[in-house]
Amino acid sequence: MKVLGIETSCDETGVAIYDTEKGLIADQLYTQIAVHADYGGVVPELASRDHIRKTAPLIQAALKQANLTAADIDGVAYTSGPGLVGALLVGATIARSLAYAWNVPAIGVHHMEGHLLAPMLEPAENRPHFPFVALLVSGGHTQLVRVDGVGKYELLGESIDDAAGEAFDKTGKLLGLDYPAGAALSRLAEKGTPGRFVFPKPMTDRPGLDFSFSGLKTFAANTINAAIKEEGELTEQTKADIAHAFQTAIVETLAIKCKRALKETGYTSLVIAGGVSANKQLREGLAKLMDELGGRVFYPSPQFCTDNGAMIAYVGHLRLQAGENSNLAIEVKPRWAM
Ligand code: KG4
Ligand code: ZN
Repeated sequence: MKVLGIETSCDETGVAIYDTEKGLIADQLYTQIAVHADYGGVVPELASRDHIRKTAPLIQAALKQANLTAADIDGVAYTSGPGLVGALLVGATIARSLAYAWNVPAIGVHHMEGHLLAPMLEPAENRPHFPFVALLVSGGHTQLVRVDGVGKYELLGESIDDAAGEAFDKTGKLLGLDYPAGAALSRLAEKGTPGRFVFPKPMTDRPGLDFSFSGLKTFAANTINAAIKEEGELTEQTKADIAHAFQTAIVETLAIKCKRALKETGYTSLVIAGGVSANKQLREGLAKLMDELGGRVFYPSPQFCTDNGAMIAYVGHLRLQAGENSNLAIEVKPRWAM
């Protein structure tokens, strides 16, 4: 079975083809970062318009990459939520229309399930086995999920305000970095002096698996203002020191909650996925934790940490193979619990 996957939930247009026998055979991505950079965040209307421009050419490029024609496609999967409603509608409409024209089934996929199962795109030795605990850390979500199999998910905890990626982006913006500031903040943090600033670890002093990251952004703003009072314009070193303290607080907070979730479930495998899972310090921190606990941590490769079509094609192929098939209506769910 060859499934075409289409991802348009936010600011990346992703198109891929997953083949039951050969695995991933095409993967195309167009990122709109440059379109939104001037505005400091994603502008929904501009995102929809760019998806309209880019999705069809990327589908053609994916077919060419896999050396296939439309007649070879057995099903179409698309992200049906959560995400920006206009952006989702573009992918859903194109996917449904193609499936109708090609006379193949179409299936709507949950974006976070895509992130959750993205490590399954890795070579066999790097793929997790069920059951595991998943930490999903993206720009829109921070969730701990108990995963007992495909479709068997239990939400253990989530952010009650900002997502981890959102906190990276907002704090990076305060430090003068371009949108999306997560990766740039992390590069800046590498030059930081450990211990010069210490940020709080929100909600770690009480039981439970929920997160709260909006206070860290406020703490960063106060730290920046205090430093400006002291030294005038911030030096690059002070910016790096603040970035380091912020990143350390996030990484340690996530590690504490992962440890709790593993203890609560008794599981020994941890999966980290979503854009923030590309973060080097987070990967190092969680590798250390899993060494201590005698377990193992699994990640998607960097290009599958952030939004992509491959994870949607993969989940779509699982669901279509299981005989699932959504009805003909073009439906999207901007908010959707997994
Ligand atoms: O999963 P994703 O591509 O999109 C959503 O579904 O939200 O995640 C994007 C988020 C952004 O907030 C971005 O700043 C963050 O992931 N991110 C990072 C890194 N790379 C991407 N955050 C921290 N460190 C990174 N290296
Ligand atoms: Zn995402």
